[in-house]
Amino acid sequence: MLNKMKLTAAMSVFAASMVFTACNEQESKPAPKTESAEVVAPATKSVVVYFSQNGATKKLAEIFQKAKNADAVELKLVTAYPSTYDSTIAAVKAQRDTRQWPALENAKVELDKYDTVYLGYPIMFGTFTPPIFTFLDSNDLSGKVVVPFCTYGSGGRKASAEELKTLEPNANVTLAFGISNKRITAENGDSVARAEVETFFADLETGKTDEMLLGGYSEQRPLAAEDSAVFAEATKDYAYLGLKPLSVSTQVVAGTNYLFVCEMKAFGGPAVQTNVKIFKPLPGRGVPELIVVEK
Ligand SMILES: Cc1cc2nc3c(=O)[nH]c(=O)nc-3n(C[C@H](O)[C@H](O)[C@H](O)COP(=O)(O)O)c2cc1C
Repeated sequence: MLNKMKLTAAMSVFAASMVFTACNEQESKPAPKTESAEVVAPATKSVVVYFSQNGATKKLAEIFQKAKNADAVELKLVTAYPSTYDSTIAAVKAQRDTRQWPALENAKVELDKYDTVYLGYPIMFGTFTPPIFTFLDSNDLSGKVVVPFCTYGSGGRKASAEELKTLEPNANVTLAFGISNKRITAENGDSVARAEVETFFADLETGKTDEMLLGGYSEQRPLAAEDSAVFAEATKDYAYLGLKPLSVSTQVVAGTNYLFVCEMKAFGGPAVQTNVKIFKPLPGRGVPELIVVEK
């Protein structure tokens, strides 16, 4: 997939250099019109396709759209989800149990002119929201570069990208971007998300993988009192996840990234091992915050 991206980038550079060379030659000697002047790759254009129920993913989609000067398509449900959280949970659960994906007003998107699709969604039940299944069923993403991005309560970025790869084996699904609802809807959420999206694009350009992004941490070690305090502060709104930190490693950036290996009993369910990433800003710049919970 990244090879395809690199290839596309290389083709653009190649095409640009062809144009540049052709212009220079025309300036120095009036060359007869040759075919080479026409060997210019068509301008590549990208589109942001997204669903958002409550606006967090829409906010993120607008950041992607502006950053890439992309077109945008917001997927719209024919019958909106209920307005309360609990009834939305019930509606989504019913759709997942029956795999009856909800009808969209605009399920079929004209994708021919795009080589890259930025696909945005809220995480629901650990993966992308049901309307994305409808979109995938209605469109052919073969050969497209698909860049997933999501907002979530606690996580689902990696798992949703893996599911996308499984469902779309002929698409080039890249590294996924994710940010928690709490962080993007905070007062400074727009600038925080914009900065992280920029870093994400740089990671895509350099071909970073999830494994590489975990690099740079120290070895896992037992928790010291300060680690436990950071963990407690950052996870105080996530009691429903039943997290118990087992060990920790850190990475010093402008502040400190923590990677806690935890036991998790979400909603009192069975214990699974998971990683919890927390960021502690430099002193005086804010409190430790949960970035993501993921394996
Ligand atoms: C039905 C439903 C299921 C959800 N499931 C999860 C989940 O499994 N994991 C998670 O981290 N967040 C989950 N969330 C939280 C949403 O992903 C999060 O609030 C997201 O930012 C909503 O995006 P939106 O404002 O664009 O609709 C769920 C929310 C709803 C309504």
